[in-house]
Amino acid sequence: MAHIIGAIGTTHVPAIGGAIAKGVQHDPYWKPFFDGFPSAHCWLDQARPDVVVVFYNDHGLNFFLDKMPTFAIGAANEYKNADEGWGIPVSRPFPGDAALSWHIIESLVAEEFDVTTCQEMLVDHAFTIPLALLWPGDDNRPVRTVPIEINTVQHPLPTPARCLKLGQAVGRAIERYAADISVLVVGSGGLSHQLDGKRAGFINKEFDLMCLDKLVSDPAALTRYSTVRIVEEGGSQGVEILNWIAMRGALAGQVTKVHSNYHIPISNTASALLVLQNDPPPIEMRMAG
Ligand code: DHB
Ligand code: FE
Repeated sequence: MAHIIGAIGTTHVPAIGGAIAKGVQHDPYWKPFFDGFPSAHCWLDQARPDVVVVFYNDHGLNFFLDKMPTFAIGAANEYKNADEGWGIPVSRPFPGDAALSWHIIESLVAEEFDVTTCQEMLVDHAFTIPLALLWPGDDNRPVRTVPIEINTVQHPLPTPARCLKLGQAVGRAIERYAADISVLVVGSGGLSHQLDGKRAGFINKEFDLMCLDKLVSDPAALTRYSTVRIVEEGGSQGVEILNWIAMRGALAGQVTKVHSNYHIPISNTASALLVLQNDPPPIEMRMAG
């Protein structure tokens, strides 16, 4: 059976792609950020996932304001990136796993999540930057991918409670998949940031540290926040925490924090990294789910 080895949350600021392309990871501005990643690489070297399921938000590359699904899932064997205008290199296409995607879609729809299925889907920086950070120095990453897109752009957004439930349902679907594969779940974005309006540049360290803590020990606590309250506390783009909440939902067992890093700011954003290992519940508990 498939097994979820753990989850990694990471920011996706496009300027990170510029820093990687220029090779300036050791410059004083970037070093405290990139220094967070070797621990994640060590853990990944041992955990060796076959597939990465990425909860992320599209910023106008594949979906625009005229047609905005709340939840969308890629169901392809390849995902292309394209120029979004940030001045960063376009990534090579990412291999998909259409069979696993369709299994997750079947399972979600059976559990009454009415997701949009995408047999073609361009993936933007919120998908490419986390993978570039987790597998550096190679545009040909050793994993297949399943992109799961959450609307964090056009209100009304899904609630944190709904995103946690989505993640839980995705987790159940993966653990029921018959193929013997290891799966990593990624949550992309944030933490607190606001790119526009009077509060542009807004960061809330106290709120971020509370979120990082609850994501490990008590993710349900974050479902007490409305999306409007998250905007107030974390900035208008801080709602990208929804991707992290969905990611955390996929881990059903005891969770061990392997590593975390928090550094402000990277561009306009409070950058964070969180590596969680999934210590699975006994097999009989999983069968009951
Ligand atoms: C920045 C942050 C984002 O989440 C994003 O999607 C684009 C830019 C930034 O801080 O520059
Ligand atoms: Fe973003």
